[in-house]
Amino acid sequence: MNLSPQVLPLTPNIGAEIDGIDLSAELDAATLRFIRQALLKYLVIFFRDQVLTLEQHKDLGRCFGELHVHPAAGLEGHPEIFVVHADEQSTRIAGEDWHSDVSCDQNPPMASVLHLHSVPDSGGDTLFANMYAAFDTLSDHMQSFLSGLIAVHESEHVYRDRYAQHAKMRDAAYPVAEHPVVRTHPETGRKALFVNSTFTTQIKGLSSDESAVLLHFLFDHIQSPEFQCRFHWQRHSVAVWDNRCVQHYALWDYFPQVRHGYRVTIKGDRPYC
Ligand code: SIN
Repeated sequence: MNLSPQVLPLTPNIGAEIDGIDLSAELDAATLRFIRQALLKYLVIFFRDQVLTLEQHKDLGRCFGELHVHPAAGLEGHPEIFVVHADEQSTRIAGEDWHSDVSCDQNPPMASVLHLHSVPDSGGDTLFANMYAAFDTLSDHMQSFLSGLIAVHESEHVYRDRYAQHAKMRDAAYPVAEHPVVRTHPETGRKALFVNSTFTTQIKGLSSDESAVLLHFLFDHIQSPEFQCRFHWQRHSVAVWDNRCVQHYALWDYFPQVRHGYRVTIKGDRPYC
């Protein structure tokens, strides 16, 4: 291990800051194991003062698995890099609603690694919510009812305005996927709610009114402050989150200031109940 890392939990339910690891260095097996275990335990982990090139950022992502390529966007020459940017020209930003990244894919990314290069003077925090806790706090009856259900995750309403001009989307179809409303985390075996207000549009087998009411209830429940932590970014902070059991929300309270950085996502497997 390159230094002795210290873990500072942000809340009892989710999030920890890790000090003492230089992510630009090649990470040895013990450090990697430590980081992966911290991710499973805290669901989202944060690092400060990490100066990373795009290649180092991608290498860091590859420590968790093969890199995923966003279906609708990507940086020229670096298709695995998703640009996170807002300035005085922006009319919308990525991630300004609760979501799990790219849940519209058949195999949504298992984790994401975001590195911010520019941050506003204040604001621009990201909220993260624990979807195990969202499931665990439901009644037994609701848990078993939800456990048999499948939800539809669509993307055209999210991506069309934002990415229709991107070369990738000229001939491509906007992804749509069906996933269980409750998924089992493949590494921890724990159950997590897996519907989000960005991509999830309906629950199969219910009438449209029933589906809308149930989704409304779940989207509201998922936002309970007790499930959340809030991360205040500094220049060169890094966040790594587990999309299988976490949703996040990027706050856009800093217009017209600039917030800029890059995200990579890591391929995940097909969600199952
Ligand atoms: C995202 O991955 O949705 C963006 C998160 C952020 O900008 O904080």
